[in-house]
Amino acid sequence: MAILVTGGAGYIGSHTCVELLQAGYEVVVLDNLSNASEKSLERVKKITGKDVTFYKGDILDREILNKLFKENQIESCIHFAGLKAVGESVQKPWEYYNNNIVGTLTLTDVMRQNGCKNIIFSSSATVYGNPAQIPITEECPKGQCTNPYGWTKSMLEQILTDMQKADPEWNVILLRYFNPIGAHKSGMIGENPNGIPNNLMPYITQVAVGKLKELGVFGDDYDTPDGTGVRDYIHVVDLAVGHVKALKKIEEKAGLCIYNLGTGHGYSVLDIVKNFEKANGVKIPYAIKPRRAGDIATCYSNADKAEKELGWKAENGILEMCEDSWRWQKNNPNGYDE
Ligand code: NAD
Ligand code: UFG
Repeated sequence: MAILVTGGAGYIGSHTCVELLQAGYEVVVLDNLSNASEKSLERVKKITGKDVTFYKGDILDREILNKLFKENQIESCIHFAGLKAVGESVQKPWEYYNNNIVGTLTLTDVMRQNGCKNIIFSSSATVYGNPAQIPITEECPKGQCTNPYGWTKSMLEQILTDMQKADPEWNVILLRYFNPIGAHKSGMIGENPNGIPNNLMPYITQVAVGKLKELGVFGDDYDTPDGTGVRDYIHVVDLAVGHVKALKKIEEKAGLCIYNLGTGHGYSVLDIVKNFEKANGVKIPYAIKPRRAGDIATCYSNADKAEKELGWKAENGILEMCEDSWRWQKNNPNGYDE
């Protein structure tokens, strides 16, 4: 029996493949490489000494999905595949709704036709909108998203929830990630954004490596201790381990479950800059810029439910996240391109 990992060549997917292989699972990856390089999977094999079965293809393509299910005994799917750039989603809403929503509908239809009704879905803290309470528990009501990307996550949560309600043979685990950063300790896999990074940590590492001049800090007048935005940064390896724990839950017949995957701690933009400098001895020049549209002041989790029900807790602290992000960037200044 194998685990299908859609989007497995990407940032979180590749780290999850490592943890799955090390936990003894057989792994089948489907990725169209729209935002990833196949080299990440070669590195996964190097790190683990184990093989991954790779299909280059799209979750919108029934033919390749059926072929994959025919050729492998898939027991569960961890579904990472999706487009995730917030700004781009505002420019190209149709592409985002089609890829993420029609893609997931196609995937789950082929899954059920092939008798596989176990899915772990990559959701996001973005579904809470401007959160009604801090720290955010899973009971916190979902909110208004500020962009089509966020809506795809919110809508897909609803779709998967309704499917599970109608057919209780489905086991659906919705994992709401907070802000994944860091990289595998080997420095061999990590986040590899196309073009100028939108997210904080890849921007910082590209300043550190000399590709970008200075960090723009988007606003210093928020209602937070130092005025800059506060987020719950979580090490990507901890996040990956959370998926292995969620699979165990699926094996016990989970029904429908929702978990926050965060650390429960909030750090401001300037906290991250300071910790990065301290961890790595590299100076990060920055300038205060206007607020970025759609940003909220504070977002961090209450992560107790995942600890209680999955036996999962983030282990890495902020200095390790900063060290590991930097090791990956320093060893691979151009990502997976030689
Ligand atoms: P990523 O872009 O590195 O990985 C996504 C992968 O999916 C890529 O390898 C891409 O090539 C692939 N893909 C996209 N559309 C596809 C399609 N139609 N068919 C097949 N493959 C396709 O992103 P990531 O950071 O690893 O995120 C993984 C998942 O987690 C995404 O669903 C994302 O929305 C979600 N998520 C990410 C974050 C974050 O901050 N990184 C936060 C919350 C949720
Ligand atoms: N920031 C800067 N400068 C930058 C980039 C970011 O100051 O160049 C600030 C932002 O204003 C924010 C914080 O750093 O206060 C974090 O920003 P990110 O873009 O790294 O992350 P977000 O919290 O905005 O969003 C991320 C993902 C979303 C996901 C969300 C919650 O991009 O997809 O986390 O999981 F929905």
